[in-house]
Amino acid sequence: MPLFTLARQWPTVEKDVRQALERVFASQQFILGPEVAEFEKEIATFLGVKFAIGVSSGTDALLAALMALGVGSGDEVITTPFTFFATAGTVARLGARPVFVDISPVDFNLDPEKLPDAITPRTKAILPVHLYGQAADMDAIGSAAGAIPIVEDCAQAIGTTYKGRKVGGLGAVGCFSFFPTKNLGAFGDGGLVTTNDPKLAELLVDLRVHGMRPRYVHHTVGGNFRLDAMQAAVLRAKLPYLERWNQARRENAQRYRKLFTEAGLTETVKLPEELPDRGHTYHQYVVRVPKRDQLRAFLAERGIGTEVYYPIPLHLQKCFAGLGYGPGAFPEAEKAAAEVLALPIFPELTAPEQERVVAAIAEFFATQG
Ligand SMILES: Cc1ncc(COP(=O)(O)O)c(C=O)c1O
Repeated sequence: MPLFTLARQWPTVEKDVRQALERVFASQQFILGPEVAEFEKEIATFLGVKFAIGVSSGTDALLAALMALGVGSGDEVITTPFTFFATAGTVARLGARPVFVDISPVDFNLDPEKLPDAITPRTKAILPVHLYGQAADMDAIGSAAGAIPIVEDCAQAIGTTYKGRKVGGLGAVGCFSFFPTKNLGAFGDGGLVTTNDPKLAELLVDLRVHGMRPRYVHHTVGGNFRLDAMQAAVLRAKLPYLERWNQARRENAQRYRKLFTEAGLTETVKLPEELPDRGHTYHQYVVRVPKRDQLRAFLAERGIGTEVYYPIPLHLQKCFAGLGYGPGAFPEAEKAAAEVLALPIFPELTAPEQERVVAAIAEFFATQG
């Protein structure tokens, strides 16, 4: 049983995706254009934001968002050390300093209580991540941020709600990824920036094409952050299914809770916390366990795929050694990195498969004494 597979999704979307791609083949228009513009309208409606701008990846979404806020040399951007590399990598690429704040052990997201101490006159933006699909505590982060703009890293959280509103419209800019394994995945790389601010939206549109407006007049330095028409067409075909896929993930999460409870394992296996007002779309279903690496090997022997997101917190990555953080700087992130394990949760996962996962985990801990 794989951790994740798209093979089971393909029969559901095949007809729609083929039709969408045929449209692009007939148009022979491959970069931006009407397909991207239509996708942007549809996804803006889905997310409840005024502006959605298709870009080339989640990484480029973050890069463009930070560029739009003027992040550069000498600036600091506060973020979490427990995330995919791109969150802090984009800050560093702009010559700014990623300033890490430890996570809350409850939701693995940036701990708002630790935020005020990290804010300095150089703080140019705050970059929380809705990790694994669970909304960060945006009100608390917003209170601490004051007038400092917030960039939401929503790469893992498309469709997630916070107090009834979808993430991506809660800060200055939202950044999404359509990497094929994401809850809404393209057939290659793709991403999106969202905002409710018309000025930022205009700037983001220009940054996507090398800061150009009008043609061949460059008022700022941007990049090639364009989304292509084939990815937009695939995403348009898949978008109508997203809510039901997210719902299926939530139902699988409920089933895991029931199965782990029935197996009497909830003391040993810490399940994801369900928090009021903090939606979860279960991009990953991540538990905390003792003897994580042994358990992972045990499950692999039984053909059950798992993954560790993420084994090395960013403050301990070699490329960030120059930032001067050492082991022990962010104990919660380091503890999480040693304990987390992602179990299969994709929408098409069956009940018998989940039963097998839980039975295998029960067998492992029974043999551990
Ligand atoms: C939290 C987070 N941020 C950013 C990214 C970068 O997205 P992409 O792979 O589309 O560049 C990802 C996805 O891989 C991610 O999980």
